[in-house]
Amino acid sequence: MSAFNTILSRALPLVPRPIVRRVSRRYIAGDCLEDAARVVRGVNERGFMATLDVLGESVRSRPLVESAVHEYLESLRSIEEHGLDSNISVKLTQIGLRIDRDLCLESMIRVAESARERGNFIRIDMEDSDCTDGTLELFVELKRRGFDNVGVVLQAYMRRSLADVRSLPEGSSVRLCKGIYIEPRSIAYRDRSVVRKNFVRLLEEMLDRRFYVGIATHDEDLVWESMRLIDQRGLSRDGYEFQMLLGVDEPLRDLIGRDGHRLRVYVPYGANWYAYSLRRLKENPQIAGYILADLLSRSRG
Ligand code: FDA
Repeated sequence: MSAFNTILSRALPLVPRPIVRRVSRRYIAGDCLEDAARVVRGVNERGFMATLDVLGESVRSRPLVESAVHEYLESLRSIEEHGLDSNISVKLTQIGLRIDRDLCLESMIRVAESARERGNFIRIDMEDSDCTDGTLELFVELKRRGFDNVGVVLQAYMRRSLADVRSLPEGSSVRLCKGIYIEPRSIAYRDRSVVRKNFVRLLEEMLDRRFYVGIATHDEDLVWESMRLIDQRGLSRDGYEFQMLLGVDEPLRDLIGRDGHRLRVYVPYGANWYAYSLRRLKENPQIAGYILADLLSRSRG
């Protein structure tokens, strides 16, 4: 990223919300489930799977937890009704992790049961490091209760992730990503090349432990390394998948698909778009250009 882009990505919270909204449109399917279902259909028509995410996090009130659970149940119903090839991704702080662990577990069980009845699957997103223990404990508890249709996420920037891989049950379903939250150096690697090396190391360890891995990256170097490992181990196409975010590097998505690998697109939707949009814009190497173009088009219009 250029110095100017880096400065702007740090100053993003100062950018007015309407501008953030406009320049982050590419990352979000829309405000409602119908928008998301339409986008998932398009993704499926291009030969990719999807995972639906109801935007929202750090919920502090029980009624908001209930409405998030309701929306997830509706999204599972809609996926089945429309015959879509999609699972769902859930953030535990949206369904009570920061309020009460039992509420969160109970909410997850409701969603996981509905998914199981429909032959569907839930990925538990990983949030900031305050949530890592709670998220992994809840995942293991769900496995203990027989929910094999639930998977979790590990982040390559976390120093603890290798130990976490080794502590999870063999054969777990895990999405591997770099990690997006701002963490202190004491718990997360800051050097981008170390994060990359750790990504490959974790992937190797996961494959050794027969995990089903969702390889979630747009970093072509890591895609290449992953394909090397897949090839070396002679993995069958249904033994792993690549994952990418809606609105990011579609040409790379097509290239991975063209080589016959399965790929899943993360499709977020809903009214709580702000925090997610900031995270995505922060990672966009062309962020300054987008914001300037938006400002110029408004001043001319
Ligand atoms: P990197 O950031 O280096 O990007 C590689 C290249 O991709 C960039 O050079 C650029 O060209 C392009 N690119 C990346 N982001 C872009 C953007 N926003 N706009 C335009 N271009 C962009 N994190 C987490 O902490 N918990 C989680 O649960 C998840 N879940 C998740 C699911 C899926 C499907 C993906 C793909 C990612 C996540 N992440 C996540 C986010 C992840 O941790 C990471 O922050 C991003 O994927 C960016 O890292 P890359 O590996 O893509 O590399």
